[in-house]
Amino acid sequence: MEVKKICVLGAGQMGNGIVQVCAQAGYTVSMRDIEQRFIDNGMNAIKKNLGRSVEKQKMSQSGMDAIMSRIVPALDMKEAVKDAELIIEAAPEIMNLKKDIFKQLDELCPADTIFATNTSGLSISEIATATSKPDKCIGFHFFNPVPVMKLLEIINGISTSEETLKTAQEVGKSIGKEAIVVKEAPGFCVNRILGPMINEAFFVLDEGIASAEDIDKGMVLGCNHPIGPLALGDLIGLDIVLHICEDFYQALGGKYRPSPLLVKLVKAGRLGRKTGSGVYDYSQK
Ligand code: CAA
Repeated sequence: MEVKKICVLGAGQMGNGIVQVCAQAGYTVSMRDIEQRFIDNGMNAIKKNLGRSVEKQKMSQSGMDAIMSRIVPALDMKEAVKDAELIIEAAPEIMNLKKDIFKQLDELCPADTIFATNTSGLSISEIATATSKPDKCIGFHFFNPVPVMKLLEIINGISTSEETLKTAQEVGKSIGKEAIVVKEAPGFCVNRILGPMINEAFFVLDEGIASAEDIDKGMVLGCNHPIGPLALGDLIGLDIVLHICEDFYQALGGKYRPSPLLVKLVKAGRLGRKTGSGVYDYSQK
């Protein structure tokens, strides 16, 4: 199936990154969110990112204008999904919310539209039960920051068809991502490994084994990671990290218990960069 228009539902951190890479690849992209201020924030983030590339002379101003002209912001769901062959839902990680959205999509879109969900661990098969066409539903897991990270994790639900997978792989390639296809399981492939590492870093910090700075320094200099696990938690969002850890604990048991320090920071509203503080303070940056 040829995809020409993509609709992204959600203009947040992941959503606006997905919109940007799709528009950069030449697709017409509608970006839908439930409030104008979320759309404005998303559009501003894209403008800022592309503007940086223009400043660095990695992109021309006319190139940036052309990309921006392919992005159509929308508040109205019906308007946003109109003529889109692929919908990428990037709403918060709440199963019932995602199911509600998929139910609406099922009612609004033609039978051959592909419904992808950007989830870091929720069941694609369960989300697909909200539709009448689970064969058209697939997981599209992007990594943060989306414009920078090369990987796209594609997750097949139990009923995802070969044709849907093939289209998803083609779109992934066309937007410059390297895809890996994985089975549905808690955390899929990458987060299954990454989540426990970040969680463990919080245990090491809480036990006073090393300072936050030294834990991160250790993993950067000792393991060649681009940033340390605590700084990465702040980048991803500590609420999301906790959510991943809680899912693992529930599905896989004992050794995946979330660190009490991680829980405490989330309870305190210190979610990382997006709230101005997490493990580290970003208020001055
Ligand atoms: N959006 C777009 N581009 C960004 C960006 C952002 N938020 N942040 C940085 N960049 C770009 C910069 O513009 C710069 O581009 P150029 O090379 O073209 O100049 C480049 O990335 C490098 O940026 P910086 O020099 O400012 O900073 P850095 O070298 O420290 O890199 C980083 C920043 C790319 C975020 C790097 O620290 C990194 O790779 N960190 C690890 C990220 C990671 O592991 N992500 C996966 C998280 S897990 C996940 O997302 C899955 C999940 O479900 C939780």
